Amino acid sequence: MKIITIASLKGGVGKTSIAVFLSLALKNSKNSILSIDIDHNNNLTDFFLRDIDIETIQERNIGQILKGTIGISEGIFKTDYGIDVIASVPELSTIAFELLFDTAAPLRFAAMLKTLPYDFIIIDTPPAISFELSCALHVADIVLCPVGYSRWNIQGYSILDAKVKRAGENKYFIGVPSAVTDKRVETLRAGGLKLTKSFIHKSEAIATASDSGKILREGSPSAEEFKSLAMEIVKL
Ligand SMILES: Nc1ncnc2c1ncn2[C@@H]1O[C@H](COP(=O)(O)OP(=O)(O)OP(=O)(O)O)[C@@H](O)[C@H]1O
Ligand SMILES: [Mg+2]
Repeated sequence: MKIITIASLKGGVGKTSIAVFLSLALKNSKNSILSIDIDHNNNLTDFFLRDIDIETIQERNIGQILKGTIGISEGIFKTDYGIDVIASVPELSTIAFELLFDTAAPLRFAAMLKTLPYDFIIIDTPPAISFELSCALHVADIVLCPVGYSRWNIQGYSILDAKVKRAGENKYFIGVPSAVTDKRVETLRAGGLKLTKSFIHKSEAIATASDSGKILREGSPSAEEFKSLAMEIVKL
């Protein structure tokens, strides 16, 4: 099993979109996938679990799992997308205060994930150094950092790279050009950041699909980009 955390200190760079469509691309190549939402903005939850009522999600979510109120298996939702999902809720924003003196929480989280039978676990995170991001970096084998089209998008890349190195020697940190044009990819590559060969173009199809909770059409240019990213990630 490999745990892939999608992280960036910059908001709106495509973390959730990459978490969703990379999960779907990896599933399409016959891998079993668990997608975890550890962002209190719960956009990944909204994509995969749009039809589940809020009361159910309030009882079964990543916050309850981190606190130990429910076991990890109880928190897993099966979806029609063929992907299993652990949900988040806005109340996750207070988890750092609730677990302030529970220093073993990230270790418990790692131990719980290790017991699960998936090929890949994909974790979507909030765009700030936080307890939630620290947990997701602690458990990760690979950290993918979406890097966008402007110099401001690159801010935070090296801070995150350093944080990942501190979290463990064996972790692999790499940027993914996200929502970019061909010209911007060239500029990014010239900047010397470690980046995946695959990249995700700025595309109306991705914006529409992520907003409407729909999958990308199989064989479409955007779906092919996520397929190529998935193939590259599998080989890391
Ligand atoms: N490749 C893309 N092309 C066009 N639009 C995109 C692309 N990727 C993401 N978007 C759109 O940009 C917006 C932000 O994307 P997304 O929510 O995935 O970013 P994020 O990094 O998860 O944001 P946050 O930090 O707020 O969680 C969304 O409306 C999404 O539909
Ligand atoms: Mg997001």
